[in-house]
Amino acid sequence: MNKDVYILGIESSCDETSVAIVKNGCIDLATVVLSQMDVHANYGGVVPEIASRMHVENITIVIEECLRKANLTMDDITAIAVTYGPGLIGSLLVGVVAAQTLSYVYNKPLVPVHHIAGHIYANNLTKQMAFPLIALVVSGGHTELVYMKDNYSFEKIGGTLDDAVGEAYDKVARIIKVPYPGGPLVDKMSHQGRDSYNLPIPLDDDSYNFSFSGLKSAVINLVHNEEQRGNEINKEDLACSFQTRVVNILCKKTLRALKSFNVNNLIVAGGVAANSGIRERLTAICEENNINLTIPEFKYCTDNATMIAAAGYFAYQLGRRAGLDLKAKANTPLE
Ligand code: KG4
Ligand code: ZN
Repeated sequence: MNKDVYILGIESSCDETSVAIVKNGCIDLATVVLSQMDVHANYGGVVPEIASRMHVENITIVIEECLRKANLTMDDITAIAVTYGPGLIGSLLVGVVAAQTLSYVYNKPLVPVHHIAGHIYANNLTKQMAFPLIALVVSGGHTELVYMKDNYSFEKIGGTLDDAVGEAYDKVARIIKVPYPGGPLVDKMSHQGRDSYNLPIPLDDDSYNFSFSGLKSAVINLVHNEEQRGNEINKEDLACSFQTRVVNILCKKTLRALKSFNVNNLIVAGGVAANSGIRERLTAICEENNINLTIPEFKYCTDNATMIAAAGYFAYQLGRRAGLDLKAKANTPLE
């Protein structure tokens, strides 16, 4: 009989210090997420130096809290998985050094995990992932369509040419004076408004690439122009008009990818997978087209270590290992 595998995951790529223990790549035994959002909200966005310092202060506390919550000790842990990139370099370093130290002191294998692989494998916590699949990756730093023939095989078929979708949400939120992080609030407001503003449709071509900077700039220009004329903006309508354009193009290109790759499994990954417009529209499209759709639970959409431990399980099974020379990487492709 195969032995159970317990992965301790560490995630610190941005402003969440998170540690989780996952059994066999799918069972969340304990997750601790310490968010710094309240602190960064005072500055309207993440301040890298503050994020890094707060990770240093909190990482050991979060590791201990996670083990306590799972009622396990380091002896029970099979391997340690850590996000090595992409992300804020100072933030990543804290997680990587903590993971290396645990690996060295307790003599446990160290498994490097790409942050986006983590977001993708968050789906395995909801339902066992079936292949081949298309992953729609939508986060604060990424907007990608990824084809996966099998476990841990990532073929990027398209990506953003400029702003990531979450970034566009946060910038639109800022211009309409919604507090950081604005994405969830813009989403909420969009349900209280109508698609009444004539905004441009973002990059509607034959590729699987995305471009949201034109749409974002159109929103910014519209707000400035109306302000100069002394006109009031209907924020809910603007949020709805923006969200409608975003959801339409994401869903259109995703459906085309599913059809041309002849795939009937779709997963959604990243913080923007929490978006209600995307969830509703993809649910409807997948029902109509007989496609199996998995979207992670809300708590696994934004950054967390549970997804890193889930991805870490598959990376571990494939023999992926790192040592004390593992480097944190601010930019690194998914491979
Ligand atoms: O994956 P994530 O936690 O961090 C990155 O790896 O980037 O994603 C954070 C992003 C932020 O831009 C946030 O505004 C956005 O996800 N977000 C949303 C929603 N919830 C989070 N954007 C739109 N609608 C939402 N409901
Ligand atoms: Zn993320």
